[in-house]
Amino acid sequence: MKKIIITIDGYSSCGKSTVARQLAKELNYIFIDSGAMYRAITLYFLQNKVNLHDEAAVNTALAAINLSFVFNATTGKSDMYLNEVNVEIAIREMYISDNVSTVAADAAVREFAVAQQRKIGEQKGIVMDGRDIGTTVFPNAELKIFMTADIDVRVERRYKEVVAANAGITREEVKQNLAMRDHLDSTRAISPLRKADDALVLDNSNLTMAEQLTLVLQWVNERI
Ligand code: C5P
Repeated sequence: MKKIIITIDGYSSCGKSTVARQLAKELNYIFIDSGAMYRAITLYFLQNKVNLHDEAAVNTALAAINLSFVFNATTGKSDMYLNEVNVEIAIREMYISDNVSTVAADAAVREFAVAQQRKIGEQKGIVMDGRDIGTTVFPNAELKIFMTADIDVRVERRYKEVVAANAGITREEVKQNLAMRDHLDSTRAISPLRKADDALVLDNSNLTMAEQLTLVLQWVNERI
């Protein structure tokens, strides 16, 4: 059976990673969460007080960053490593969510992350989720999915995900963060979030996980 590249782009907290993970499991593909890469870069930039307006400082910082994904047998997912340190939990904190879209809009940061994403894609048999995967990273991907869902559905899902790690957080704060990121991600100059012309739209506001998987597997089967 032919191995393909599947891209999943869309707004924040639409469940992109969930679909990507389900697909990767069903097809025995590698799942890459490209957002985790931008989050890890943001963590490094904040830890090292890198000034985004200082091009030389940004380039020096990027040269010192080594990103890798390591499979975690306990969770059954890949964890993000930054310079050999597992940062999977640290990158999900709210202060990273509040800063990541600004860091991800930087040209040098995007060039750095996209080069690594394309390298991973050389092997095919991958599902990658993000914002610009179908438009910029893999414009020739065999299957492109663009996900969307009602904002209140997204807030509720995201709230449940982050409440444990961010004590006292409110739904309103989660909603503000999603709206802010969607705005920055879709209006930035380089590789803004948008549906690729040949992407299939998946609105999962009213779909169960099982229904959603059935639908995307049908799209995959039409292409392999
Ligand atoms: O997917 P996740 O919500 O973790 O992504 C965090 C942020 O990383 C996004 O809001 C966006 O600013 C950035 N990102 C991006 N391009 C990607 C993936 C994520 O700019 N391909």
